[in-house]
Amino acid sequence: MNITQAIQARTSTRAFTDEPVDPQAIVRALQVAARAPSGGNLQPWRICLLTGERLAEFRALMETRLAGTPHPDGDAAEYRVYPPGLKEPYRTSRFRVGEQMYALLGIEREDKAKRLEWFANNYRFFGAPAAIFCFVDRVMGPPQWSDLGMFLQTFMLLMVEQGLATCAQEAWAAYPRTVGEFCKVPDEWMLFCGMAIGHADPEHPVNRLLTEREPPEVWLNVL
Ligand SMILES: Cc1cc2nc3c(=O)[nH]c(=O)nc-3n(C[C@H](O)[C@H](O)[C@H](O)COP(=O)(O)O)c2cc1C
Repeated sequence: MNITQAIQARTSTRAFTDEPVDPQAIVRALQVAARAPSGGNLQPWRICLLTGERLAEFRALMETRLAGTPHPDGDAAEYRVYPPGLKEPYRTSRFRVGEQMYALLGIEREDKAKRLEWFANNYRFFGAPAAIFCFVDRVMGPPQWSDLGMFLQTFMLLMVEQGLATCAQEAWAAYPRTVGEFCKVPDEWMLFCGMAIGHADPEHPVNRLLTEREPPEVWLNVL
């Protein structure tokens, strides 16, 4: 598999089989991903990996947090996942991916309860047997946050190379305290996102989602 093929093969996977993954293989891939570039070579990513018993414990904790409501309000979020009043064309992109995903799941737009119930699967890592959380020191700004993205995409491609699937999850931004306390991270670490890691469930309709991309005219200006 070459890099182009890996990039094209990567999709966000939202249903996993319970086939375990070797934590050491993930650790090795994280170390390779740390070859990602970063401004000033700050390497601002801070990662916690959860598998096996620890992930089971965390899942149990999350179930208590989610209990009684399919709409988890979470802890107080520490950053806004999207800007308020998202403008075009971003708003339409976001709307379309949601519509396409819920169509595959057979959930109607009006069925808010079912949508929220599905969304809560984020907080179960969609059944994945492994997960990471990505943190960044609070003193860091947009340049370092963009470095996190380079690290995470590099890691996701390495997972593709190993036949593993992933889903980056900003949904975890709603639970910074729960995650931070469980992972016992220093106060200066701020949670950016989580990521589910495992074997894609080939039978699940949600994994048929193939998202669209804007044509280059929207974002590319060749001078
Ligand atoms: C940083 C980041 C956070 C994301 N957070 C979530 C999330 O919380 N839940 C989810 O289902 N998808 C999440 N996604 C997946 C995006 O919806 C997905 O990348 C986008 O729709 C493009 O689809 P693709 O990844 O299949 O190419 C996230 C992606 C990124 C890069």
